[in-house]
Amino acid sequence: MAYIEVKRLYKRYRMGENVIEANRDINFSINKGELVIILGSSGAGKSTLLNVLGGMDTFDEGQVVIDGTDLANFNDYQRTEYRRRDIGFVFQFYNLIANLTARENVELAVEISEQPLDPGQVLTDVGLKERMDNFPAQLSGGEQQRVAIARAVAKQPKLLLCDEPTGALDYETGKQVLQLLQDMSRKKGATVIIVTHNGALAPIADRVIHLRDATVDKITINPKPQDIKTLEY
Ligand SMILES: Nc1ncnc2c1ncn2[C@@H]1O[C@H](COP(=O)(O)OP(=O)(O)O)[C@@H](O)[C@H]1O
Ligand SMILES: [Mg+2]
Repeated sequence: MAYIEVKRLYKRYRMGENVIEANRDINFSINKGELVIILGSSGAGKSTLLNVLGGMDTFDEGQVVIDGTDLANFNDYQRTEYRRRDIGFVFQFYNLIANLTARENVELAVEISEQPLDPGQVLTDVGLKERMDNFPAQLSGGEQQRVAIARAVAKQPKLLLCDEPTGALDYETGKQVLQLLQDMSRKKGATVIIVTHNGALAPIADRVIHLRDATVDKITINPKPQDIKTLEY
């Protein structure tokens, strides 16, 4: 059985009289250790889907089976445990804790992990060796994004979910971060899902799930994903 199986997933937002169907009849599966890109334009439903997969949000219909367990059957407590234990989440808008330094943000996240990586080492890997003792407000957007990535990676989660992780990064730093995320799948066996609107990133993934108008448009498999060193985007 695949590591992730999504079947007939629906997620709706109710706004007064209106109902917005953000995810509609979504179906796909993902194998353990894959690097997956969810590709789609703004409003396609990417963040909604990532939040559902990470147990950040509930859904209305369908099945989301992860490692043999259907998230639909979780109560709030079980969903929280799942999120803490298995998930590393890189938020699109970072969500760092303002009164903790970069290092402390990462240290706090790994306190609840079973096999954390060394926070200082991971911050070095994302190029922040010299900035670890700075607070988020003292860091640029790109630096804050890298702290958010370090925080998720250092947990060594089974499932690493990244919402537009290179959005605020310059080209070279973006490639470094993509390399780090690919290494998490290739070397550490984590399943990594990257949400992006940038189609140029698609060749590096094992599997690309194309979202359009709240549903899956197509799924493509790259038998030989492109080496990030040779990627141009
Ligand atoms: N909390 C929310 N309440 C109401 N509508 C929402 C909410 N979050 C997202 N939406 C709507 O759902 C649709 C999909 O949003 P989203 O998943 O954020 O798309 P993407 O990440 O692909 O840009 C959009 O129409 C958006 O306005
Ligand atoms: Mg989004």
